[in-house]
Amino acid sequence: MKPESKLPAEDSQNHPLASVDEWDGDLLRRYPQPDQSGSTVDRQAFRDYAAEARPSVKEFYRLNHRHQTIDFVRQKRAQYLSRNRRKMSIWEAMEFLNTLVDDSDPDIDLPQIEHLLQTAEAIRADNRPRWFILAGLIHDLGKILCLWGEPQWAVVGDTFPVGCRFSERIVYSEAFADNPDMQQPQYQTQLGIYQPHCGLDNVLLSWGHDEYLYHVVKDYLPAPALAMIRYHSCYPIHREEAYGYLLNAHDHEMLVWVRDFNQYDLYTKRDERMNVQELRPYYEELISEFFPAEIAW
Ligand SMILES: [Fe+2]
Ligand SMILES: [Fe+2]
Repeated sequence: MKPESKLPAEDSQNHPLASVDEWDGDLLRRYPQPDQSGSTVDRQAFRDYAAEARPSVKEFYRLNHRHQTIDFVRQKRAQYLSRNRRKMSIWEAMEFLNTLVDDSDPDIDLPQIEHLLQTAEAIRADNRPRWFILAGLIHDLGKILCLWGEPQWAVVGDTFPVGCRFSERIVYSEAFADNPDMQQPQYQTQLGIYQPHCGLDNVLLSWGHDEYLYHVVKDYLPAPALAMIRYHSCYPIHREEAYGYLLNAHDHEMLVWVRDFNQYDLYTKRDERMNVQELRPYYEELISEFFPAEIAW
């Protein structure tokens, strides 16, 4: 497939990060891999993390928290969930995502397709179910939103509920002071527009690559795979355990899978290159087990 040129709306206002991978990289700084003894990150380390972030990452979160309002989320859902942009196979979408060219250093950042394959290969090596491997293979395909002109803050970043009070457990929560929804009292109670334990299916999350891909693939994969795809960036819920008052029993069941998946997403990024063409036949067969030749994007 012909590589697309540079990002369409290339201005520092919308693209403070050198690449969307800079956010993923910063997650590793926030949640370093626990050592062999099993000890985890302490709370002081979490606070230090926020203070020591790169200016580009802080600016990214500032924009994200400023602009992700309930109206913005509704507008993006109306724009993208009709999925009338194009028809592509899963593999074509992987190649399309791989054309994402940005300012990142090719010696440091792996091509997008290799992060997908590394995640899937690690899941496969652990003999997990085939749908789990497939979820790993496709989980970041929603980042093609970048190629359709969306700013970085509307593609990546931690996701969180809108329409109710922003949790202090969201990274850089102080930046919500500039969010217009803060001036809307109906969105600033603990529950906002929601009922207690209404379930995440009934909650609007900030817009990004997770939610978009979920709607593209929701007819084809089992529920745990869909939860992994839809909530993998929702660190406030799956990692920081915020918003328990919105969750129902089904969510708690699914979050076990989301956390399981998150280990593979975060801790499988290696310098070791993937042989894409050698791996392709295995993955094409896996894709065809669950998906038709083309799906609507
Ligand atoms: Fe992701
Ligand atoms: Fe990922």
